[in-house]
Amino acid sequence: MSILKIAKMGHPVLRRVADPVSDPTAPEIARLVRDMEETLADAGGVGLAAPQVHVPLRVVIFHVPGARTDDGSQVPLTALINPEIEVLTEETVEGWEGCLSIPGMTGMVPRAKRIRYKGATLSGGVIEREAAGFHARVVQHECDHLDAVLYPSRMTDLSTLGFVEEMRRAAAATDRPESEESSAGPC
Ligand code: NI
Repeated sequence: MSILKIAKMGHPVLRRVADPVSDPTAPEIARLVRDMEETLADAGGVGLAAPQVHVPLRVVIFHVPGARTDDGSQVPLTALINPEIEVLTEETVEGWEGCLSIPGMTGMVPRAKRIRYKGATLSGGVIEREAAGFHARVVQHECDHLDAVLYPSRMTDLSTLGFVEEMRRAAAATDRPESEESSAGPC
């Protein structure tokens, strides 16, 4: 297993559409997913897409900690190969996002409130789930990476884009409680 280097915004691998995986059960895909899991754990994020580790394939991993959902429910670490998203409502919700490829920054991003997603598993099966809230947000963020989309280009108000460190400092200076933006896990 290895911790992989994470590509940052501007790298060409983040600007191309990733290729489908022809065989999700291939040993090199299992190895890639293990390395991505180790890289994500090391970086302390909630999700990671293969292009972020310089591999232009349609593979994402993510998990949803209980603290991030309204009802405390968790989504265990999940690997999806060739994922597809179906948007279930035109309703969107704004929420803070960060990205391991844009380190230290955060911004408010509108996302579809409810989605259905599916993808292949390493064992050749299929995962199909409905998701809402933060769970739906993380999956949309990760799948965007496969189509060369980074969260700032989804933002409708660029004035909310900023450095987490400065936002924390501003919140501390005004005695505001620690704001939600500083706790948004990058992905
Ligand atoms: Ni990201």
